[in-house]
Amino acid sequence: MSVMNTNRTAAAVVEADRYTAHNYHPLPVVVADADGAWVTDVDGRRYLDCLAGYSALNFGHRHPALIDAARKQLDRVTLTSRAFLHDQFAPFCRDLAELCRMDLVLPMNTGAEAVETAIKVARKWGYKVKGVPDGQATIVVAADNFHGRTTTIISFSTDPDARNDFGPYTPGFRIVPYGDLAAMREAIDETTVAVLIEPIQGEAGVLVPPTGYLTGVRELCTRESVLFLADEIQSGLGRTGETFACDHEGVVPDMYILGKALGGGVVPVSAVVSRSDVLGVLKPGEHGSTFGGNPLACAVGIAVVDLLSTGEFQERARDLGAVLHSRLSDLIGHGVTAVRGRGLWAGVDIDPALMTGRQACERLMATGVLAKDTHGSTIRFAPPLVVTESDVHFAVDHLADVLHAGA
Ligand SMILES: Cc1ncc(COP(=O)(O)O)c(C=O)c1O
Repeated sequence: MSVMNTNRTAAAVVEADRYTAHNYHPLPVVVADADGAWVTDVDGRRYLDCLAGYSALNFGHRHPALIDAARKQLDRVTLTSRAFLHDQFAPFCRDLAELCRMDLVLPMNTGAEAVETAIKVARKWGYKVKGVPDGQATIVVAADNFHGRTTTIISFSTDPDARNDFGPYTPGFRIVPYGDLAAMREAIDETTVAVLIEPIQGEAGVLVPPTGYLTGVRELCTRESVLFLADEIQSGLGRTGETFACDHEGVVPDMYILGKALGGGVVPVSAVVSRSDVLGVLKPGEHGSTFGGNPLACAVGIAVVDLLSTGEFQERARDLGAVLHSRLSDLIGHGVTAVRGRGLWAGVDIDPALMTGRQACERLMATGVLAKDTHGSTIRFAPPLVVTESDVHFAVDHLADVLHAGA
């Protein structure tokens, strides 16, 4: 790690603190450029990015195929609105529908918008197809979920930081413990239009549900005529070693909710992808977004789907994920109390007697590794899928050193 003698970092941190709302508490690193799995800060220090923009950077920073697609599109047309068609729109929707083995795509921008879209579609499907009395639709969700930051979505959050002081809350949601099929069965009645879950809960600390849970949710939803909405915004598109986390149980939901990596770390792109009997309930004027499905987003999205279609990234996540998990589990009892996850995605619980997750991330940063804490003592490792095996060892070696030094 080269350290230059300037200290632009301190000044940039003070300026950001002075001029921005304090809705984040970033690590004091000021990134100036990035390539693949590595970033360089304004003072010339290099870091391995083990967060990858919460999985928005699955293909690494500035993947050449994605930058090329974006550059070419910048020289042609970037925005039309959905009032007109453009020549990247149908190819993107076709390619994404084929990747998901579904019929229709509805593109939006951010993950939260895609979740909102899923909720609206499920409610309308409930009224028009299932026959739920108007205004009475319920959706079953899991405790400790994270689906975004809009007022409706935080209405069914169980995280006080996400929810408190932002009411009044949107009704129509029933919260059950994650991984508990019996509780889900209990919560479903004739008003229930959908179950909305993350196949692996990311923000909660990379919680993998018990084996058979996703299969059980699928069976329950089919039996009760309820839509299974899988929020694969963080778990999908290669991260866990399969295209979708649901694939690990061979489960196909009624709707995939996608975001983050769909925009290749270049532009915000999200989408819901489903069958025509579900997404077909929407009529012109009922839903939309000015930027949703714009030419730049679609051009990058086409290149993203193309990268995923070879299976190479899924394989990297599987193989390097095995290395990551094996190395991390060796740290259990040496400053780590538990490791969870799948593929290149791990939640690592740090022994609270040693240090907090935040302290661990600060000390890791000083060694050239960027990771993010969650819920006090958990750190998440989710490096871009382009990391090398030696990068993975670099990250875990430094974690081991930090924990050893803290002991
Ligand atoms: C599972 C899941 N759903 C939804 C979202 C919200 O996405 P966005 O921040 O793009 O609105 C996130 C973001 O972390 C997420 O992890």
